[in-house]
Amino acid sequence: MTENMTKKEIEMYLLQNLNMALGNQIQGETSYTNSFSVVVQGDGFLFLPRLPSGYVIDNDLYQKIFLIANAALYPRYTLLKQNSAYFVPLDTTDIHTQRGLFFPWQVGISKRLIIPNLEAFVKNNQSTDIKIMENLAINYEKVTSIAIAGNSGSGKSYALTYFLSCLKPISDLIIIDPKFDTPSRWARKNGIAVIHPNSNRSKSDFVAEINESLSQSLNLIYKRQGILYDNPHHQFSHLTIVIDEVLALSEGTNQAIKESFFSLIAQIALLGRATKVHLLLVSQRFDHQTIPISVREQLNVLIQIGNINHKTVQFLFPDLNPEGIVIPIGQDTGLIQIIDNEHPYQVLPLLCPTYYTQRGIL
Ligand SMILES: Nc1ncnc2c1ncn2[C@@H]1O[C@H](COP(=O)(O)OP(=O)(O)OP(=O)(O)O)[C@@H](O)[C@H]1O
Ligand SMILES: [Mg+2]
Repeated sequence: MTENMTKKEIEMYLLQNLNMALGNQIQGETSYTNSFSVVVQGDGFLFLPRLPSGYVIDNDLYQKIFLIANAALYPRYTLLKQNSAYFVPLDTTDIHTQRGLFFPWQVGISKRLIIPNLEAFVKNNQSTDIKIMENLAINYEKVTSIAIAGNSGSGKSYALTYFLSCLKPISDLIIIDPKFDTPSRWARKNGIAVIHPNSNRSKSDFVAEINESLSQSLNLIYKRQGILYDNPHHQFSHLTIVIDEVLALSEGTNQAIKESFFSLIAQIALLGRATKVHLLLVSQRFDHQTIPISVREQLNVLIQIGNINHKTVQFLFPDLNPEGIVIPIGQDTGLIQIIDNEHPYQVLPLLCPTYYTQRGIL
């Protein structure tokens, strides 16, 4: 096939793939017996069953078609995984063909951003659009809370350092570093204060200090709400509260202090959107011991790096079956989902940026 296939050629190609591979899933029916057809649209394709059919049109069928088509279209298109069958009504009065299953796609595959000089890159990109991949950016005006999950050594702190570098020109930062590690080094280099544990203090003492800082941020939110009450269009500067290894805060901490931490962070997640107060959370996992469920529900950029399977995605993507999503091979790869009103509902394969700093890789 040629580089530029016509709409008709892609439809034919998809039909052939589905005819051959759907086989027993749809009781041996095919497009030759007129039981279904395929129509390509600008932003995806439609599977059009002809009813009544000998097969059931359900989530199983939808996911099976996803598997077949996503592999068949790789790397020209990336199908955007849906949690359940995506029905669309069709513009016809014939009841036999009045519905379709829609499979939205994105042209091409995810492409890693390679940054030869991070300092220069940041200098030239001082906008609230944060580039994540060659073909993906997030608008910091539109998102409030970001979470990065991944097993130990998967590259979370490395990705976090990239975010810190991009955020520094556009946001005030409060950095909490329970492991007194990469974020602390970045902060020292950039002259930003860090809350980190101290050898002569207890764990609970450390979390209490964090609570004190979160409580100040919450007061700022209240103050800003008061300003918004009088002037709904007031523009605030961004403030981002960054916590590496959130999991480390709740383990072995005095129950009362942990509860205050949960309560503060939940209120910030809930109220921060209108007042430009953001959370950037990093943890090996985000179960209910790590952050309150209400915080998880407020997250609008979800990043999972490292191993991707049912187990690892269960906290950030509870409704997602990752089967069939092509995860790129290599360091620092995984999944990203952006929930805002600009991007369609989508979970995309992710390749985190690779960057070099003037002193080499951090
Ligand atoms: N995209 C990348 N390119 C080059 N090196 C990377 C990349 N991602 C991570 N690394 C390197 O891999 C190592 C582990 O990464 P990192 O410390 O970020 O992992 P982590 O998920 O934070 O681990 P931990 O759970 O131990 O904190 C580091 O030495 C980091 O420099
Ligand atoms: Mg780390």
